Amino acid sequence: MPDTLTKPDTLTKLAYQALQHGKRYFGLTHKTLSTRLMRAIMPVPEHQTQPLASATLIQLQQRMDDLLQVDWQEAEAGIYPTSLLFDTPWDDFLRYYPLVCLDIPQIWQRAEAKDVYSFSPQINTQGYPRYYLQTFHYQTDGYLSDTSANLYDIQVELLFNGTADAMRRRVLAPLKQGVEALMTGQSGCRTEQTPMVALDQLRLLDVACGTGRTLKMLQETFPQAATYGVDLSPAYLRKANQLLSQQSGRLPQLVQANAETLPYIDQYFDGLTCVFLFHELPGPVRQRVMAECFRVLKPGGVLVGCDSIQMADSPEFKVVMENFSITFHEPFYRHYIQDDLNRRLQQAGFIDITNQVHFMSKYWICRKPA
Ligand SMILES: C[S@@+](CC[C@H](N)C(=O)[O-])C[C@H]1O[C@@H](n2cnc3c(N)ncnc32)[C@H](O)[C@@H]1O
Repeated sequence: MPDTLTKPDTLTKLAYQALQHGKRYFGLTHKTLSTRLMRAIMPVPEHQTQPLASATLIQLQQRMDDLLQVDWQEAEAGIYPTSLLFDTPWDDFLRYYPLVCLDIPQIWQRAEAKDVYSFSPQINTQGYPRYYLQTFHYQTDGYLSDTSANLYDIQVELLFNGTADAMRRRVLAPLKQGVEALMTGQSGCRTEQTPMVALDQLRLLDVACGTGRTLKMLQETFPQAATYGVDLSPAYLRKANQLLSQQSGRLPQLVQANAETLPYIDQYFDGLTCVFLFHELPGPVRQRVMAECFRVLKPGGVLVGCDSIQMADSPEFKVVMENFSITFHEPFYRHYIQDDLNRRLQQAGFIDITNQVHFMSKYWICRKPA
């Protein structure tokens, strides 16, 4: 494993590129073979996806290459340790990839039957919001079983041809920049009411932390900070706990809670991240989550959100986005891709809102007024 303290060398770069190439071709092969196999044994789904034009495929490839280049450059610049680039949970992959394959027929059957509300009888569905009690992505038991939590990261990596973590890592540079501005009092982030923050007093929260991939990145990028994660799924939090408790250093505090009512006092956090949540929420819930993020941030604190690209920033990928909402059960995605999240953030009180796009993800960087 490359040394995280020395400047990464050419060999490390080649190793990273080879790893990503391997993931890309594995993801493409997995999708092609599983689709062919299912089409051979099951009826063709009623709602067919549209084929992608070759120009779109080239653009996708270019965007993916750009993402990986930035991913390397930011590691090289020391924004996060190079070891993060190689952080692939191989033991989970070997253990659960066969189950991912075995689950495909059930996913197709569910898609065919449009059965999106069935959960295994042993799953307790009490106390969750209605919008949450669906089998998102047609995945077995939605977010509510340990099996789902074990398969989730592999499924997402296959979907994005091995770039899911590279897209998550794009929150780190703006978060670091925002937090440094808060610590040093730059950019008007600090007033007499907002005292300087020392590194070991930093508090960072990942909203909808899922299985903990982003939290692990936060832990390694800000080793002195206290990290926190909140999610509605006890199964995903158990999985996150497994991952994060293997790390040396401070353990993140994980709490099961609804992001609409975060269980923290006002002005508690210096920085927040929120990855791949908004597209899974109805519009008014998105707004409430943003209001909660605003409430728990300190004045001058930074929020970095990451989610799917939208029509306004990536009209050239209209067909890709439409196909996504057909293939996967994503009940709020069509609304999400048209939603003006900058306006919602402004409505919640955030300022200095900027956006970035990397491959299939869009980013919202903003802060609470000092
Ligand atoms: C697509 S996953 C993203 C998980 C993780 N952030 C990642 O990068 O993989 C969406 C996550 O949001 C959680 N979630 C959905 N609605 C929520 C809510 N209202 N409050 C808290 N978590 C929620 C789900 O349990 C799930 O873990």
